[in-house]
Amino acid sequence: MKGIILAGGSATRLYPVTLAVSKQMLPVYDKPMIYYPLSTLMMSGIREVLIISTPVHLPAFKNLLGDGSRFGMKLEYKVQEKPVGLADAFILGEDFIGNDNVALILGDNMIYGSRVERVLKAASNLKEGGIIFGYQVADPTSYGVVEIDKTGKALSIEEKPENPKSHFAVPGIYFYDNEVVKIAKSIEPSERGELEITDVNKVYMEKGKLQVIPLGNGYAWFDTGSADRLSDASDYVKAIELRQGTQIACLEEIAYRNEWISKEALMVEAEKYKKTEYGKYLKRIAEQDYKQYKEIFEGDLFNAN
Ligand code: DAU
Repeated sequence: MKGIILAGGSATRLYPVTLAVSKQMLPVYDKPMIYYPLSTLMMSGIREVLIISTPVHLPAFKNLLGDGSRFGMKLEYKVQEKPVGLADAFILGEDFIGNDNVALILGDNMIYGSRVERVLKAASNLKEGGIIFGYQVADPTSYGVVEIDKTGKALSIEEKPENPKSHFAVPGIYFYDNEVVKIAKSIEPSERGELEITDVNKVYMEKGKLQVIPLGNGYAWFDTGSADRLSDASDYVKAIELRQGTQIACLEEIAYRNEWISKEALMVEAEKYKKTEYGKYLKRIAEQDYKQYKEIFEGDLFNAN
């Protein structure tokens, strides 16, 4: 499976902060925002990723992440001239996707939880159709909203409904089979003039091929599209990292645990960042025998018994 990060748009809800800087480059506590969605794709086991952004902002992402080799990945880049909708990612990404399945993640979405890696890996093994997630929020009116039955089957899905049929917002992470390219090309722009991801999901739902995974208690999902939500996400990351002495969205750590980079390569990165907690953490990871304590770190000891 391949991955796409959509990191364009005009971010007018964050003006004046984003007048000259890409939203997805803003810090979420101690890392650029794009680290979080990239880490989500990496935890899904996805190694080839296309980053899409505006003509102005794309070069900064290239400077930040390069060709991906320091994470044992292959990163490609593509300009989106105008923000014509989320589903445009599959049209722009057609050549990159080729005959593969594809995951799309929005550059301003972050998801966290001890079991998240397992859920993502399962989703990335999809054979046919589409997989989306449902996350309960107090006010779902500014999201895609999905209504599900007891078995997790989607009954309806609507974009930013005034009267939502459920409290399940759809996070900006989606897994699809290769049909998605054809589907994205077949949908019409919505009233706001965008190719809506919700319309793509509706096509899968109507074919009976849309699976919804409800993320229950124990997961955190943030979309950092407004100043308040960006600040909430930063506070959350800070609280976890300082309390536990760990890092969220530590790309080199994930690459190392996925066995995409060697211990030596990890040490090189640790040295580069040695003046920061990030660098000290990388050094600790390189020196630790993670495998021996895997169950403890991943909270599985109880289940294992
Ligand atoms: O965050 C989850 C929500 O994301 C979903 O629940 C909604 O169903 C989905 O439509 C989307 O809603 P938003 O209103 O948050 O989408 P927004 O237009 O803010 O775009 C999301 C991100 O994608 C944002 O970081 C900018 C980027 N983007 C957006 C568009 C329309 C692009 O890079 N290109 C685009 O053409």
